[in-house]
Amino acid sequence: MKLGIATDHGGFGLKEELLARLKADGHEVTDFGAHSLAPADDYPDYVLPLARAVTAGEVERGIAICGSGVGASVCANKVHGIRAALIHDHFSAKQGVEDDHMNILCMGGRTVGPEVAWDLVKTYVEAVYSSEPRHLRRLGKVAEIEAGKLN
Ligand code: RB5
Repeated sequence: MKLGIATDHGGFGLKEELLARLKADGHEVTDFGAHSLAPADDYPDYVLPLARAVTAGEVERGIAICGSGVGASVCANKVHGIRAALIHDHFSAKQGVEDDHMNILCMGGRTVGPEVAWDLVKTYVEAVYSSEPRHLRRLGKVAEIEAGKLN
């Protein structure tokens, strides 16, 4: 799969590890940075280009990391068409795609270890959106909120 990955200093080590593992598994991964550990950097500078690449179709799905994953998810969800979620568990990594069409997985570099993070990423990448009518209906309502048609 064509994937993108981004992090600030809070997830730099985890990003490097996941990038290597994804490439070893045959995925084409664009690294949106940080490209070196910069303790004063800001997650929006990396998450926004990733989110834009997802909505532009340049990558199919994204992985966004910061210290907790909270800032990354808040930032990513400001971009129209992004359905990002902070994920800590296997069930949500799978169902988040199957039911909610999640297109950016967010994680905390300070809250998950590398093996848990790898399980979440593999589960996310392997999951397929179900396109079930009830999920299409719900996501249609989410899209209406985003378009300012539903309050
Ligand atoms: C940066 O220190 C930290 O605040 C950031 O990575 C993230 O956790 C924000 O949600």
